Amino acid sequence: MIVMALQRLHDPVLENDWHAVYLASELKEQPVGVIILGERVALYRSSKGVHAMQDLCVHRGAMLSKGWVQNDALVCPYHGWQYDSSGQCVCIPAQPKGEKIPPRAKAQLFHCEEKYGFIWVCIGEPTAPLPHFDEFANPEFRPLPCGPYKVAAAGTRVIENFTDFAHLMFVHQNLLGHPDYAELPDFEVIKEKERIYIEHIPIFQPVAHSGSDKSEGTTYVYRKEVYRPLSARLSKADPSNGQTLWIMLTVLPVAAEECIVHMMVSRNYAFDVDDANFIRFQDIVFDQDAKVIETQKPELLPLDLQVELNHKVDRFSIAYRRWLRELGVKVGVV
Ligand code: FES
Ligand SMILES: [Fe+2]
Repeated sequence: MIVMALQRLHDPVLENDWHAVYLASELKEQPVGVIILGERVALYRSSKGVHAMQDLCVHRGAMLSKGWVQNDALVCPYHGWQYDSSGQCVCIPAQPKGEKIPPRAKAQLFHCEEKYGFIWVCIGEPTAPLPHFDEFANPEFRPLPCGPYKVAAAGTRVIENFTDFAHLMFVHQNLLGHPDYAELPDFEVIKEKERIYIEHIPIFQPVAHSGSDKSEGTTYVYRKEVYRPLSARLSKADPSNGQTLWIMLTVLPVAAEECIVHMMVSRNYAFDVDDANFIRFQDIVFDQDAKVIETQKPELLPLDLQVELNHKVDRFSIAYRRWLRELGVKVGVV
């Protein structure tokens, strides 16, 4: 196995933000390793819940995520040192019984929570709560995780794409839009301290979505919101019957130009339709987006609005770029 050299990225905002790093249902007995802003992080599950620590044994630098869990402690695979859920080493097998464990034998602990079907980690001090997704627990909705999708691009480019309407008729032609219906209505971006959003955007779709009772195309009404630098959500509703699909999309910044996208899709209709259909649809749509996003230059999202040609139909993306600048985000932008 070759492990690429990693560079730890510093960002005053993203370091102190929560990132969805793993699908909760996939974190079982075996610890796993993830990368957040170039930092290797080990995740494991104990009887007390989920835990995250630096994926580095203080003894000889082995990766703790390659170890195992025993008595709720994470065991290093090299010499078997055991770390409890506070990060303290509680057992050094080679040391004579009864001797004191050096206090420096500690792993660096990170904030870790399980919510909305994901494991969330903050490698700094969280400055905001987790991006909420009420449609996850609402019994009228049925949540379904899609992805994760690896993208060779900046996470900011992915969020900007998620908020964009004018590409639906081209990148997702015949799925989410049609070039004959490319004109967008006038819309207003609403900016609040912790989010920017737009609502009541009608988009004609040539084919109805899976599980719809329509056989033909229909006009869906969208609402889109960015509520953390790398987390956004949208709803897409058919006003004629109330069928609504919510999508939460949250991006894990692995490196400046590399990210992993987690998505939770929640619908209030077609519970009888196989989830695999919805997953397949998201896979196709996301792949169409990624193919374009991975070609964009500059790779990092330009916050100087003179760098790319911003049109008034790009109001939402302009608001997003301004917000990133205001917050002081450094990674994934230029
Ligand atoms: S490197 Fe982890 S126990 Fe020695
Ligand atoms: Fe798209």
